[in-house]
Amino acid sequence: MQITTNKYYQLRSQTFPRDYLNTLRSQILFSPYLAASQLSDSFAETKGFSVVFKRSSISEVERHFPFFQPYLKVVLEPTCNAFYLNPLVLEGGARVEPHIDCSLSAYGKFIAIPNVVSVLYVQIPPDLQGGELVLQNREHQVAQIQPQTNTLLYFRGNLRHLVNEVKSSQARISLVCEQYNLSESRLQQIPEFEIQYKAVQ
Ligand SMILES: [Fe+2]
Repeated sequence: MQITTNKYYQLRSQTFPRDYLNTLRSQILFSPYLAASQLSDSFAETKGFSVVFKRSSISEVERHFPFFQPYLKVVLEPTCNAFYLNPLVLEGGARVEPHIDCSLSAYGKFIAIPNVVSVLYVQIPPDLQGGELVLQNREHQVAQIQPQTNTLLYFRGNLRHLVNEVKSSQARISLVCEQYNLSESRLQQIPEFEIQYKAVQ
């Protein structure tokens, strides 16, 4: 494993055994929850589903999604207590518009910004063009990450970010986790465990 760190992000290469990555890939692609994305308009032409949970419900997430278990064990930060896990599938023509993650804000009367966002690149097609993750701090670009299969990225949760348009023959699949450290009163407004998805029309 090789680790690159700076004040905005950390990259770890070769994070998981290749067999596990293949399992994750097929479990995400064939998940009944994967349909037209429930994410906002800034995620045009993307597919995904989301799992919201508190630290106290990790075992329930693992019961429902056994294939997430190794991921959760490695990726969740011990200082965080609420999580928004999102397998994200970008096919040709898809891109993600600039935004700051704040998915848990929808649950309460507060704006919550994650402490850290982690991204595992589950499948990056060999012929991928575009699809880079651009990190911005106060409108200035501070990094452009070229995704690589089996690389685990952590970036500061308050950074605006976008994904350039994807051009490839296969899907670009990542597993994103917004990781929050919420106060007790805010934590009470978050569901213990909830799956968000849109049924196939
Ligand atoms: Fe995001």
